[in-house]
Amino acid sequence: MNNFEPKIVGFLCNWCSYAGADKAGTAQSIYPPNVNIIKVMCSGRVDPQFIMKAFEKGADGVIILACHPGDCHYKEGNFRAIQRHQLLLKLLGQLGIEKERCRFDYVSAGESERFVLIIKDMVSIIKELGPIKRSS
Ligand code: FES
Repeated sequence: MNNFEPKIVGFLCNWCSYAGADKAGTAQSIYPPNVNIIKVMCSGRVDPQFIMKAFEKGADGVIILACHPGDCHYKEGNFRAIQRHQLLLKLLGQLGIEKERCRFDYVSAGESERFVLIIKDMVSIIKELGPIKRSS
């Protein structure tokens, strides 16, 4: 039996994804409590250093949730964010961190069910991977 409960840090953009998560909370949707949510004004605000810091401080996974393409309130923030994410995945690979541990996805303000599905999926994937291996 796997008792591992992953710690996941979620960076959610204020305008879409955080609102979607809030809606899931208001609807009393049930999803795993493994995600610590950090609200950012835009996914474009998520500096790769934030993600590296989350892993360094004990996160087993990180998820960045953004407005859908074309819906970013700052026009191109989510495009920049996904480009950075692609680069970061290469770096994580070189550090021996599986790319599945760092996910980028889209959730709009009305997509509370999508938010719940993504969180359930992410928790399941990280449980499967197990705790992140850290060199001490
Ligand atoms: S405001 Fe949501 S991703 Fe930019």
